[in-house]
Amino acid sequence: MRLSGTNSALADVVSDLLAVPVHADRFKESAAIRALDERLNGLVYKLAAEERFEGKPGQTLALHTHGKLGAQRLLLVGMGKSGATELAELRHAAATGVRAANAAGARCYAYALPEGAADDAGAQLAAEGVLLGAYRFDRYLSGDAKRPETVVEVLFVGADSAPSAAALARAEIIAGAVAQARSMINEPAAEMTPSKMADVAREVAAKHGLAIDVLDRARCHELGMGMFLAVSQGSIEEPRFIHLTYTPKAKATRRVCLIGKGVTFDSGGLSLKPSASMEDMKIDMSGAAAVIAAIGAIAAIGSDVEVHAIAACTENMPSGSAYKLGDVLRSMAGKTVEINNTDAEGRLTLGDAITYARRLEPDEIFDFATLTGAIVVALGPYTAGVMSNTPALSDRWLAAAKAAGEAMWPMPLVDRLKEQLKSDIADMKNTGERYGGAITAGLFLREFAGETPWVHVDLAGPASATKQQGATGKGGTGFAVATMVEYLAPRRA
Ligand code: BES
Ligand code: MN
Ligand code: ZN
Repeated sequence: MRLSGTNSALADVVSDLLAVPVHADRFKESAAIRALDERLNGLVYKLAAEERFEGKPGQTLALHTHGKLGAQRLLLVGMGKSGATELAELRHAAATGVRAANAAGARCYAYALPEGAADDAGAQLAAEGVLLGAYRFDRYLSGDAKRPETVVEVLFVGADSAPSAAALARAEIIAGAVAQARSMINEPAAEMTPSKMADVAREVAAKHGLAIDVLDRARCHELGMGMFLAVSQGSIEEPRFIHLTYTPKAKATRRVCLIGKGVTFDSGGLSLKPSASMEDMKIDMSGAAAVIAAIGAIAAIGSDVEVHAIAACTENMPSGSAYKLGDVLRSMAGKTVEINNTDAEGRLTLGDAITYARRLEPDEIFDFATLTGAIVVALGPYTAGVMSNTPALSDRWLAAAKAAGEAMWPMPLVDRLKEQLKSDIADMKNTGERYGGAITAGLFLREFAGETPWVHVDLAGPASATKQQGATGKGGTGFAVATMVEYLAPRRA
């Protein structure tokens, strides 16, 4: 898709479909809508009344213009009340329009930037919405099911000035990385194995000039990654520990490690999951996909931060060689862990990854993981839980999430719950009780972070979607990529 900006009058913009976001409380007064209504001889308001279109969120109204506008079709997209529009909604509206345009077989799609968001930041969100709304994972579809995308040209219509090419270019980089993460997540586990993850990481490294190191089982063994290797030992797939590095041209202002959970399939191991819980467990590498895709985008935009993306990739499988309940593992940090549930494998892989990251002496460590079902119980399917040993760092991260339009919320690392992880024969157990399960997972990881400022993002909910919503379709969402880019390569004001 070719993206460009214009500030022509809406009625004159030539396109196959023009989408115009509408705030419910501004629908009747909006000068933009009135101008369109006039050109269409009052048809817009007449039809809106007949169809009870009021600009509620998710409502749409489509009409043919019969040559009275530059656009052949007009689509009004409800935005709800003005003033309180969340950033994600700005992506959603643009996505809704592009889906309608593709369904109508349109080649050229025009989108009117909404009032109050017609600046470059708004244009970036709209462009992200268009690119991500058009995303489909269709490589396994055949025949009619594989409807090709028809939109090749997208015009963003600003109110006073045209949105800048820089804003649209930034959106293309971010949406491209989000789509890349989505495709890695959506790929079946039989395909997206740890070795394949490493291949993708090598492609990202080659494309963006990053340094890359892929550690095989033997090298992980030399480093003493007893927890990571225990998780991998039940699988016939070789584990891969991936480490990508972006080094800024000028001297770096600080060093940041982004760690992603890379369990390419989580069967639960000997603590086998029931079939329904296992069905979607190819998505358990969403954190790894996000950090690998994000570091590419960060390099493409450029940052003054030295960034490391680290992913300990493995399957978690039951077999004759699988790790067992009651096993005592020795972690890379030296701490011993008694296993009381092989399905709490993510924290084991991440614990060693955090220790590996700390050897790089970073200023900050972040980890992204589909770590617990308990966080989904706590926050629902759309919001990630954020835990940290450094409140000020967590605040900065949450501010970046807000600016990127991704839903994240702080969770407390309640010290008292640590008693649940006490073991009689080792330094720790790997699981506590049911209640507080997201927090005990965070407390387990904190033991490995030590004094290094660290933030844990449990994205088990928002990493994948069971229904299409706004700019995200069913399946992998690429959650956290946009916030990582916002945090490490912010838009310059
Ligand atoms: N990968 C799962 C967590 C998960 C659940 C991700 C639902 C996405 C959606 C993780 O490895 C896991 O199995 N966690 C257990 C922990 C328990 C054994 C303490 C869980 O949440 O049940
Ligand atoms: Mn598990
Ligand atoms: Zn898991």
